[in-house]
Amino acid sequence: MLLKVPEVLTVDQVKQCRAVMAEAKWIDGKVTAGYQSALEKNNMQLPEESEASQKLGSAVLSALSQNLIFMSAALPLKIFPPLFNCYQGGQSFGTHVDNAIRPVKGTPHKVRTDISATLFLSDPEEYDGGELVIEDTYGTHKVKLPAGHMVLYPSTSLHHVTAVSRGARLASFFWVQSMVRDDGQRTLLFDLDMAIQRVRHASPEKSAEVQLTGVYHNLLRRWADA
Ligand code: NI
Repeated sequence: MLLKVPEVLTVDQVKQCRAVMAEAKWIDGKVTAGYQSALEKNNMQLPEESEASQKLGSAVLSALSQNLIFMSAALPLKIFPPLFNCYQGGQSFGTHVDNAIRPVKGTPHKVRTDISATLFLSDPEEYDGGELVIEDTYGTHKVKLPAGHMVLYPSTSLHHVTAVSRGARLASFFWVQSMVRDDGQRTLLFDLDMAIQRVRHASPEKSAEVQLTGVYHNLLRRWADA
């Protein structure tokens, strides 16, 4: 499932992130790339263990924990600490697939990447190019969202970022290990959860909602690891 999640960060929160990013020291983005993707990757990143990256990462994680659409769609078990990147001056990231397992630097923890996320921190008018292009079984999707909005997509997808020919494209990116590993099962649970919310608001009659909520949790019990 490819899902756009609007307003993960408010306009003010984006402004605060941008202020930190403007003062921060940037390094070559190849540091977190695997062998194949390093050949394709041309951008800048905040160093993972830098103060700026940690501060911004906490702000993103806190916003995610309060975002009901994200929680329902991703059913997160572990979230890789968010990273931050910048593309400008023709920089791009060629077609690649994200590494399946990512060690969290400085810890014994590893995250299996079920879901990839990009949280846009620049508005589309600020730069030309810089589309995130995701290939799935239904074709090719180009994504370029307002600042503060996020896209989630299965980490199994091939994807690339087109060259930024004007301005700068700032974003946060990270991965989620979901309690439900399979994208098809996760999508069903998300659709069911959204339908239950609609039933809750549409009908004063509670028994259908209770029964559907039971189905949701019993599917989750079958499919989830916690
Ligand atoms: Ni990628």
